[in-house]
Amino acid sequence: MITSLVITIDGPAGTGKSSVANRLAQRLGLEFLDTGAMYRAAALLAIELGLSPDGGHELAAAIGREPPRFDWKASPPRLLLGNRDVSERIRDADVTGIVSRVAVCPEVRRQMVAWQRAAAMQHPRLVTEGRDQGSVVFPDAPLRIYLDADPHVRARRRAEQLRAAGRAADEADILRGILERDRIDSGRSEGPLRVPEGAERVDTSTLDLHGVVERLETLARARLGDRLAHNAAAAARA
Ligand code: DC
Repeated sequence: MITSLVITIDGPAGTGKSSVANRLAQRLGLEFLDTGAMYRAAALLAIELGLSPDGGHELAAAIGREPPRFDWKASPPRLLLGNRDVSERIRDADVTGIVSRVAVCPEVRRQMVAWQRAAAMQHPRLVTEGRDQGSVVFPDAPLRIYLDADPHVRARRRAEQLRAAGRAADEADILRGILERDRIDSGRSEGPLRVPEGAERVDTSTLDLHGVVERLETLARARLGDRLAHNAAAAARA
């Protein structure tokens, strides 16, 4: 039998959580859950249906009718809304601009938390990343990580990412957006961004992606060594 093995990674925007979590999952032979993508899907739905991003009830009902789903056969998993693959669309500026308002809504959060726990039942060997994964969704996970970085460094990384993708990027604008999202994400009453109790805090300001992944892999192997090996063997037999 495969026992549950969940590693959570939380932290503010621009710390490289998604890339780090995805690579860490590959190295450890685990699956990867991007919970920010789920909130982004809800924001996209609000835009498409012309609903207010702050309209908790209405929006929660809409995503209840069309829940975000992942295609787990792809690596990293693709995000589906209905039959559409919206993995790229949810990164656009209009979605990014409203998603933290959507993520404030308690009704929306409760649905997301339930879907994330259900995902972990079906995919029990998991690296999951977001804002509340170690504090609210999986507080018993055996390894909980909090990634942090100086906001200026986060803004620079984001600008570089956008430019690499051939998009325009104004670093000062990005910094303002990041600070605003941090403020909303940390200030909400339900599932606020915070360092989970007992989490390993890693500052990535002076580390590149490779350096962060190496550090987390070392942490995971030291903390979970036997369980990782045992689960890998069980997964190979399954
Ligand atoms: O990590 P990201 O930028 O894709 O997240 C998008 C938004 O969703 C961001 O405002 C924080 C929010 N979020 C959240 O509130 N809880 C999560 N578990 C994941 C993301």
